[in-house]
Amino acid sequence: MGVRVRAAPAPAAFAAPAPRSLCFVKTGTSVAKETAVEIRAEQGDILEYRGKAIVVNLFEGVTKPEGATGAADRALDGAIAQLIADGEIRGRRGEITVVHTFGKLPAGRVVVAGLGKAAELSADRVRDTAANVARLLRRSGFGTAATVAHGAGAGGLDAEASARAIAEGTLLGLYRFDRHQKADENRRELQALTIVERDAALLPALERGISTGRILAEATNFARDLANEPSNYLTPAELAARARAVADATDLRCEVLDTEQMVELGMGALLGVAKGSAQPPAFIVLHYRGDPSSEQGVGLIGKGITFDTGGISIKPAANMHEMKGDMSGGAAVIAALSAIARLKPAINVTGIVPATENMPGGNAIKPGDVLRAMNGTTIEVINTDAEGRLILADGLSYARRLELSPLIDVATLTGAITTALGDVAMGIMGNDQPLIDRVIAAGKEAGEKVWQLPMFEEYRSQIDSDVADIKNTGGRKAGSITAAMFLREFVEKTPWAHIDMAGVDTYEHDKGWITKGASGIPVRTLVHTVLSIAAERQGAGRRDGSAKRRAAAVQA
Ligand code: BES
Ligand code: MN
Ligand code: ZN
Repeated sequence: MGVRVRAAPAPAAFAAPAPRSLCFVKTGTSVAKETAVEIRAEQGDILEYRGKAIVVNLFEGVTKPEGATGAADRALDGAIAQLIADGEIRGRRGEITVVHTFGKLPAGRVVVAGLGKAAELSADRVRDTAANVARLLRRSGFGTAATVAHGAGAGGLDAEASARAIAEGTLLGLYRFDRHQKADENRRELQALTIVERDAALLPALERGISTGRILAEATNFARDLANEPSNYLTPAELAARARAVADATDLRCEVLDTEQMVELGMGALLGVAKGSAQPPAFIVLHYRGDPSSEQGVGLIGKGITFDTGGISIKPAANMHEMKGDMSGGAAVIAALSAIARLKPAINVTGIVPATENMPGGNAIKPGDVLRAMNGTTIEVINTDAEGRLILADGLSYARRLELSPLIDVATLTGAITTALGDVAMGIMGNDQPLIDRVIAAGKEAGEKVWQLPMFEEYRSQIDSDVADIKNTGGRKAGSITAAMFLREFVEKTPWAHIDMAGVDTYEHDKGWITKGASGIPVRTLVHTVLSIAAERQGAGRRDGSAKRRAAAVQA
């Protein structure tokens, strides 16, 4: 616990081949890496906290602070009220002010975090505030701090939601990817954050919130680690090894299909993409069984392109390095399963990640080639850079073979989604409106925006092919929609939603809970979606009075 793994493994290209069962030992990566900062809840008076700093808050427009902020103000002989009167503290969101206590309180500093307008307070705002505060505490070298449960009093949030948002924001906001950099001896860390609450009756709720928040944040950070990892380290085999390591640490079951098994299953679309690469593909399957009384299971399918050069339809050099993150959908699926295994909802979930590089090797597929997917559909490859939908064709076909339902796939699929929605929201499309609505609602719970695009039938003719059943690109117009229509060919009537996350997979700057590099979106959206399906199924079970359903519900 609390150990950060610094040593990076040798790049796959230089590592001696190892037996597959030993691969994960060589990664030197702990599963769902424990983030160093300890977060706990305690009953008490925050003014008595003896660590480096206490964190209180202020809503915009408040001139006479109340609650813990008011108490801190009185202890500091009105210094906070004076700073407000002087216009130095305005309570705006994102604003953080550090006030020295000069011995008037046991803690050396009072940190006043602006929460914006009281009427706009939400868990999202608390999460971002906690992240900004955590980075400030770290930069300032305040290794230990106490905070109030923002919004849990006058703000109208419940204590559990507040603590969850604080835990998520703190752990997500402090994330950094530094395993390939020299250790910095002067590096500062936030070691412990204590949520201090006067009312002892609220402690269990705060502790529940911290525990859930930690699980969700650690899973998100795990997805970030996978997506940030350079492709010479994170090969398809290494991605599979890391999924296996998750399964070994939890009670997930992991299967990894090799090339021979893919050939037997007829996964011609995935194998076609893999042909250009020296690295063998891996088809990763993770099973969570939380409802043994049921044969049903939800399928989460994630794009696992460990590097996308574009293949023979090669991409321009500028920013091509970002394509190491083209397995972010797959990372989100593996990470969501890791969180589900810890949260233990009474539902079955299977994660599927077809993984390969997309390279322009001598054996690579060429424009005009025809591939046959696992479900028998033939595909004319117009552009080898539209490879995500090819590997997902076999991922979705396999999910149907396992009779999973509903299906949710997630992929960095099209540049066009960034044209449509920028880096603000993911696109969602599908054939089942209640499922789409559920994912959008789960995104709200997570603070991850999801926006629906239409699947009007008029678009379908754009992927008609003259030589095969369909072609893999639909031209310049409505690129994200024609990509979704391509995927629809492989789900047929199964309830399905497709998330195109290409616009939100990486960011250049820290901002609230988002940190530079891979975002870890939409891990929490996927987990909340699964929890919401599980909750609904349990509710239905209780209404029918089915003993089987009741037994399943008890497990949660
Ligand atoms: N991985 C890319 C999409 C992408 C682009 C993700 C930018 C993240 C940032 C995908 O495989 C791709 O290349 N899509 C093509 C499809 C086109 C050839 C039909 C695209 O969007 O240009
Ligand atoms: Mn591509
Ligand atoms: Zn791609």
